[in-house]
Amino acid sequence: MRPDMTPHMTPLVFLAVCLFMRETACTPEEKKTQERLFLSSLGLTGRPRPAGSHQLRHHVPSALWRMFQSSEKIQIQESDDCMVTEYGVRGNIIRYVQDQGSLESGRSSSCQACLEKELFFNMSVLQDVELLTLAQLELKLHWKPFRPVDLLQQPKPLRLSLYKVIRLTLTGANPQVNRRLLVSQSVQLQPESTSITIDLTLLAENWRKPGRNYGLVLELLPHSSEPGELLLFHPGNSLPFAPAVPLPLIQASLVVVSLNPHQCRSRQKRSAVRLPMIRSNVCKARSLYIDFRDVGWQDWIIAPQGYMANYCHGECPFPLSESLNGTNHAILQTLVHSLDPHGTPQPCCVPISLSPISMLYYDNNDNVVLRHYHDMVVDECGCR
Ligand SMILES: *[C@@H]1O[C@H](CO)[C@@H](O)[C@H](O)[C@H]1NC(C)=O
Ligand SMILES: *[C@@H]1O[C@H](CO)[C@@H](O)[C@H](O)[C@H]1NC(C)=O
Repeated sequence: MRPDMTPHMTPLVFLAVCLFMRETACTPEEKKTQERLFLSSLGLTGRPRPAGSHQLRHHVPSALWRMFQSSEKIQIQESDDCMVTEYGVRGNIIRYVQDQGSLESGRSSSCQACLEKELFFNMSVLQDVELLTLAQLELKLHWKPFRPVDLLQQPKPLRLSLYKVIRLTLTGANPQVNRRLLVSQSVQLQPESTSITIDLTLLAENWRKPGRNYGLVLELLPHSSEPGELLLFHPGNSLPFAPAVPLPLIQASLVVVSLNPHQCRSRQKRSAVRLPMIRSNVCKARSLYIDFRDVGWQDWIIAPQGYMANYCHGECPFPLSESLNGTNHAILQTLVHSLDPHGTPQPCCVPISLSPISMLYYDNNDNVVLRHYHDMVVDECGCR
């Protein structure tokens, strides 16, 4: 890699140029450094290595796909891109943080017929600079009856209670004293899935402090006290009894919207112009498509699969024509360079206008993340 090319590209473009351009050679160390630089500009300390295989992974929530697709479409708007209109809060990162709590049933001493589920959301995926603006718990309850005849039954009313756990419980101690009720509401257990959303922004902010996150407990309790109904949530696997009714499946995720203030400014208009591949030595934007498969990132970047990143390359000769978008300083520098080519270099061909893209990816905890990144596409070049 020629050293004079280095400062004129975003780290990702540099990395791609390392990989694709035959006339330039990057050492493996240079590649590593560039990859690290790019990842850190995405707010990542390393290349995410999602654990699950492709089949086992959480699929991308449809709400997130919709936001990704609409952010692709509305790039031309001059709007504030640090506003997440879907949720009406400021932010430029949207994560679906997956629940890591375990399922317990009927263990609680106070409630033999209850289904209890621990919920735990690891908030350390947020960087310290990020301001949390929204944390919304999304609960989905599905219930698949064993027998077709159960489908004909009335939906079963349940009481859903959500507790925050305020400290660790030692074995043998009463867990009830270590929790505080947050919400309690009625839900209908029915074959179609039921969704519930609960705002947990303040609590989630508190969870970011070290040693403060003991998670939540979700409790489902049959409304009626008929003896038959009480079997509804009889402990499943661990006891010899089969449950009278299959346990509902509980899916929980925490939608976390946060704002990285350093990556926030009003969105520039993206030019839709395709760059021509003209062989000329004069400074201009050159087309460069970065395919994430070629960089080996297809396993953590969900979308897009690649994008037109482009790069600036070429000479800034004397006299500097207007189309080269030179500064007065660059015009004088070309003049001096023409008089003394060895003493003073030519001005450099650099991006003068860049535009953002949106990316959907898996982080190390297998959470799906949607982020907008500035300065990812070179639109125009100039001599500086
Ligand atoms: C939360 O995630 C961080 C980093 O991803 C990890 O180091 C930590 O062990 C996790 N904490 C828990 C309780 O799983
Ligand atoms: C200079 O800017 C104009 C528009 O402002 C653009 O059309 C042109 O391509 C730019 N020059 C280069 C070398 O990119």
